[in-house]
Amino acid sequence: MKYKLKKKYFVVTFGCQMNKADSEKIEAVYKKKGYKKAKSLKETDVVIINSCSVRLAAEHRVFGLVNNLSKYKKIKIILTGCMLRYSREKLKYLLPEVTQFLKIKDLVKDIKPLRKDKVHAWVSIMEGCNNFCTYCVVPYSRGREVSRPFEEIICEVRELVKKGFKHITLLGQNVNSYKNNFAKLLAVLHDIKDLEKISFMTSNPQDLSTYIIRSIKLPKIDRYLHLPVQSGDNEILRRMNRKYTAEEYLALVKRIRKEIPNIEIGTDIIVGFPGETRQQFENTVNLCRKAKFCVGYISKYSPRSGTAAYNFKDNISFIEKKRRWRIINKLINKIN
Ligand code: 5AD
Ligand code: SF4
Repeated sequence: MKYKLKKKYFVVTFGCQMNKADSEKIEAVYKKKGYKKAKSLKETDVVIINSCSVRLAAEHRVFGLVNNLSKYKKIKIILTGCMLRYSREKLKYLLPEVTQFLKIKDLVKDIKPLRKDKVHAWVSIMEGCNNFCTYCVVPYSRGREVSRPFEEIICEVRELVKKGFKHITLLGQNVNSYKNNFAKLLAVLHDIKDLEKISFMTSNPQDLSTYIIRSIKLPKIDRYLHLPVQSGDNEILRRMNRKYTAEEYLALVKRIRKEIPNIEIGTDIIVGFPGETRQQFENTVNLCRKAKFCVGYISKYSPRSGTAAYNFKDNISFIEKKRRWRIINKLINKIN
């Protein structure tokens, strides 16, 4: 009797935790179709690239990968993720080797993720963003903010706990603005027996209310808070369309530390935003000194078509961006 060999799939993921969580759903889709997971790109029949568009460098990595893959003639290449914000015509022109372009929402509709970890699970609570920070593609790549129903999230977590999961991370571009009340969601999840730890990301400083701080105090909530500041200069923050000043951010950090003494705070910073003077950069350095972050993800500004800042002159040289990047990175590591 002849056995038909199962076709193999391989998923390559770029970018944030949201993409990593989506990739667990992509895996489930291919398992359901009867595919087997390939051990490497060399032996796969289909490769699904879950792309990121936040910085140009992330897109370049996709171009490089597709270029390498075209060596293996028979591989089917599927592109999904944030690069699908570009029109199909543009994508076909830029990446003719790709067999199919599929929006993530269409690819993973109504499927439960194939979770690798048996203790920790990602749980998406909202999609997209309405903040339109001037440098950011997310409102275009992931669309406007949509919150999942409260009950649906509670049921999903209860089911996960029944299966033995102990730690969940709630995911969303701006979890603090979860429309059905993030503080309440944390409090209700906190009461689920046998769930031991709840983490969440990402928090936007402008939406971190007193109620949310109160919920974070609950003992099962992770003592790490990711709170992107982006810049320590008020004029740059205004041009980034961030809705707080450096002083308000520092006051918030102070309040959080007072309420939750053992909390650790991490951040995201962009250096070399259009027009950022040395003095404005110094203001960011000063904010970092005061805020005492435990970790900082520092990015060199990268102009993204379609965003408001794309029309600003990207006038800080790459070398200068790199210099500023090194200074902040060293500073945060030193404090660390
Ligand atoms: N250039 C550089 N960094 C960016 N980020 C978002 N957009 C850009 C951009 N155009 C950074 C921000 C954000 C993180 C996910 O990526 O710091 O918080
Ligand atoms: Fe992008 Fe975050 Fe600003 Fe939303 S809040 S536009 S995801 S940087």
